[in-house]
Amino acid sequence: MREISIDLAAIRSNYLALKELCAPAKVMAVVKANAYGHGMVEVASALEQAGVDALGVADFAEATALRTAGIKTRIMCWLLGEDVDYQAAAELGIELGISTFEQLEQVRAGTRIHIKIDTGLGRNGFSPLDWEKLFDRLSGNPDLHGLFSHLSNTSEQGDLLQREQFEKALALAESKGVRFIERHLAATAGAISYPDFRYDMVRCGIGVYGLNPFEDRELPLQLVPAMRVTAQLINVKRVPAGQGVSYGYRYRTAASSYLGLVPFGYGEGMPRVSEHHKVLISGKLYPVVGRVAMDQFVVDLGEDQLPIGSEVVIFGSAQNGEPTAEALGASAGSINYEVVTRIGGRANRVYLDR
Ligand SMILES: Cc1ncc(COP(=O)(O)O)c(C=O)c1O
Repeated sequence: MREISIDLAAIRSNYLALKELCAPAKVMAVVKANAYGHGMVEVASALEQAGVDALGVADFAEATALRTAGIKTRIMCWLLGEDVDYQAAAELGIELGISTFEQLEQVRAGTRIHIKIDTGLGRNGFSPLDWEKLFDRLSGNPDLHGLFSHLSNTSEQGDLLQREQFEKALALAESKGVRFIERHLAATAGAISYPDFRYDMVRCGIGVYGLNPFEDRELPLQLVPAMRVTAQLINVKRVPAGQGVSYGYRYRTAASSYLGLVPFGYGEGMPRVSEHHKVLISGKLYPVVGRVAMDQFVVDLGEDQLPIGSEVVIFGSAQNGEPTAEALGASAGSINYEVVTRIGGRANRVYLDR
């Protein structure tokens, strides 16, 4: 009665479209957080078949899970905590994104490392105040592979400043005899927007899933959303005018109408506050009304007595006239990234590969 379908062929074709756009730069596909809710192992396997250049995850445990599942492709992880087994990283060929001197100390011989520098996002990575000391420390290190950073996507001006900082770090490193084989700065938004941000590799997450990283503009290339979320109407009933709906009666019917019950709640990742989202049933959009509950939400069907069992599209592809993950995110003051990453719960997962 609840289904999340993931189109692996769409994921592969999105990856290849990004690869074509960014060539000759390599494209790392980012599959962290269960591949943004799409299923990490399934997505990684599909991308491996397509010859993906590298896979990126946040946690070391995600990287080892991919190796355990038989993924042979390059894997890099960059959010290192106490959980990292540096010996295992060397043995499993897991590349590490290094952000502190303490992490650097622990790296074992043979591990490919990528130094992360903070060019302005203010999160992980070596601060510019430490670059001098960092590159002094790195000179003569044979296992050095990459230098990378991450953009804040605040504005074009902000992005350009970050790129300048990135260049500054590269020049400083070079002045100390430190060279990086693989330089990478851009994620999907940067990779699409600025050719000169692509360097040797880009790290694309959201675009691989066919979703738009920009909240204020259309994508300049055609990508296909890979996730489609549906449920079935499990109750349809006529109610009188003035009927309060769901907890807190945040909605009352203006006239006698049919209410449809959809078994998809915040337990499945439907935002509790998404009462203004519109879902598609039998080719027509209907509003979600009243608070979304843990297991279910209600739609006002007006005069339409739709059959029980009708498919309700919660989000899918705009090209097919379906509501989008962007729209669901907007209804909750959030973004498509959060929507797809949180989707799950008790819903049945189906993988399509056409
Ligand atoms: C370091 C890093 N690189 C790349 C990405 C992929 O970003 P996007 O999904 O916007 O392409 C992320 C995701 O947050 C990230 O943390």
